[in-house]
Amino acid sequence: MNDLIWINGEIIPMSEARIGVEDRGFQFADGVYEVIRIYNGRTFTLTEHLQRLARSAEALKIGMPLAVDALSEQICKLISASGVREGMIYLQLSRGVCPRNHVIPADIKPTLLFYARPLPPAPIPGEGEGAKLTAIPDERWKRCWIKSIALLPNVLAKSQAVAAGYDEAVFIEHGVVTECSASNVFAVIEGKVVTHPVGSKVLPGITRAVLFDCAAELRIPIDERPLREEEAIRSAEVFITSTTREVNWVARWNDRYIGQGRCGPVTLALHRALQMRIRKETVG
Ligand code: PDD
Repeated sequence: MNDLIWINGEIIPMSEARIGVEDRGFQFADGVYEVIRIYNGRTFTLTEHLQRLARSAEALKIGMPLAVDALSEQICKLISASGVREGMIYLQLSRGVCPRNHVIPADIKPTLLFYARPLPPAPIPGEGEGAKLTAIPDERWKRCWIKSIALLPNVLAKSQAVAAGYDEAVFIEHGVVTECSASNVFAVIEGKVVTHPVGSKVLPGITRAVLFDCAAELRIPIDERPLREEEAIRSAEVFITSTTREVNWVARWNDRYIGQGRCGPVTLALHRALQMRIRKETVG
């Protein structure tokens, strides 16, 4: 495996990559990112991720240096060169380098980079322990649908959760569950999968969207509405989703056990359906 990076059009060893000190991504967190999963040396839902990247970039008026198709091609080239079979791509697009000034300059060349990293397989629901969530006030901005690299509230929340022995922080705003620090969150209530709508408070997760498709095939109803914390804690099942976690069952919410304290049938069915999608797209 080679530690390579694609940076502004070139594939070079990671150790040789240089970013300007006055890159606005570094100084202002003025940029957007994506995390894309690699299975069997192939990407999963690459187009969906790059379309979300384009929407995030457009929202901040950062120019995309490459169109989605050309970018897909370059990502596949990097994956082959890097030799990563099971892992992820981290991609970052920042506004670029210019003398530090809060005002966004008119002509600036964005910095685009991506690299592949190996990942262990995501945990299988029903095998091993479920995730432990702890509730933390949601102190983020109101444009959570943009996948911005400005992640300080997420970083602080997740670190606080892990330091206290939990796996993930679940954000609460005025008693409503929005999402987790790096994943979307769902509760199974009376047979329906309840989750907060995407938009100002919730990132439109790609795994979330794939799962909605799987749920439709399985005739599992989805109820997109604000979910109150007290409902979630009393629900039959809770699970979280992300590119890196896939579908992860939740065993605990603060000091309370969820449901029967084991992975529930809806979570298991959705996990299985997602695995089938992954296999269909990346094997053969
Ligand atoms: N995080 N919500 C937040 C705040 C996230 O950061 C993520 C993903 C998700 C799930 O989105 P998706 O299914 O598209 O991965 C929801 C990535 C994995 C990360 O920051 O590492």
